[in-house]
Amino acid sequence: MENFFEEMKQKVQELRTKKSVKILAIESSCDETSVAIVENGRKVLSNVISSQIDIHTRYGGVVPEIASRNHILAINPILEQALKEADLTLDDIDAIAVTQGAGLVGALLVGVTSAKALSYALKKPLIAVNHIKGHISANFIAHKDLKPPFVCLITSGGHTAIVKVCDYNRFTLIGSTQDDAIGEAFDKVARIIGLGYPGGPKIDKMAQGEKGDIVFVKHDAFENSFDVSYSGLKTAVINYVHQKEQKGEKLDIKNICASFEHQAVDMLTQKAIKACVQEELQTIVLAGGVAANSYLRNSLTELGKRHNIEVKFPPLNLCGDNAAMIGSLAYFNLLTDDPADLSLTAKPNIPLE
Ligand code: KG4
Ligand code: ZN
Repeated sequence: MENFFEEMKQKVQELRTKKSVKILAIESSCDETSVAIVENGRKVLSNVISSQIDIHTRYGGVVPEIASRNHILAINPILEQALKEADLTLDDIDAIAVTQGAGLVGALLVGVTSAKALSYALKKPLIAVNHIKGHISANFIAHKDLKPPFVCLITSGGHTAIVKVCDYNRFTLIGSTQDDAIGEAFDKVARIIGLGYPGGPKIDKMAQGEKGDIVFVKHDAFENSFDVSYSGLKTAVINYVHQKEQKGEKLDIKNICASFEHQAVDMLTQKAIKACVQEELQTIVLAGGVAANSYLRNSLTELGKRHNIEVKFPPLNLCGDNAAMIGSLAYFNLLTDDPADLSLTAKPNIPLE
């Protein structure tokens, strides 16, 4: 095994000078099984995504054990489809990348084990990728000229943070949530008002064109910092709904959705702009599943215009979980870091940095 790792390190050195590097990437951190082939970090040759949303909807959220089983069923056919769509064989692949964390341990292990088996059998370097950083890289695919430094607003199901992206695979934290993630808050509020899973897209749809005039929280608990809190907002919505129900009053679901969405988004966007001004940068990019939210995309773009800040986000198909973003970041990791060895294991709580 020691020899194998040394051999892979040597291969990575050689790949750094190769004109075209094709990476096969695997993503299985939550309820999407995805395999992609990405060339030089920017060009997607294929990106096959199999979502389990229909399976988990009937349980009102992702059931980890069911997610793992379905990844096992999906991974090999999806791998074959990704190669077919790119019109390549495994011989054409230069390295194997995989999401190591964050995510559900059983789900991650399916991807990690498959990637290790491919790496060993094909004698191709194994590249470990941090899922949250991967979401940022979706922007390198979508915006061919995008170069660090810039500010990134990470808004996903499990993470919420404002970061300064210093290099393609390095960033520093400016602020983050002190409790719930924004996507988690969308999903919990959706459940309380009976919209079900997945909550974010459903609230987004319900809120379209609505004024949103219910004030759930009056004060920002982290007013003078770049940190945010979502548990207060979430609890305020829950209390509002319970009080209405106790009084036998009808809920205005659309107005609740818009009011919650606007407050959840506004506190983040204003801080992201402030961070960008403080860092003297001209670009903010959005990353993560909640980056698909139409109010977030529109309101940040508007705010950006007022401050001469350019706002960029990935297309909808690269906002949610996908392996193309993993293949993109893997290329930048390959340029700067050693490959992973075969002792690689899933890290469900891998930190942001
Ligand atoms: O990034 P992601 O796929 O998962 C993690 O890496 O954690 O994000 C999933 C989250 C879910 O909470 C989902 O409700 C939310 O993204 N989401 C949205 C929208 N589409 C997905 N939230 C608000 N508006 C949307 N349109
Ligand atoms: Zn994600």
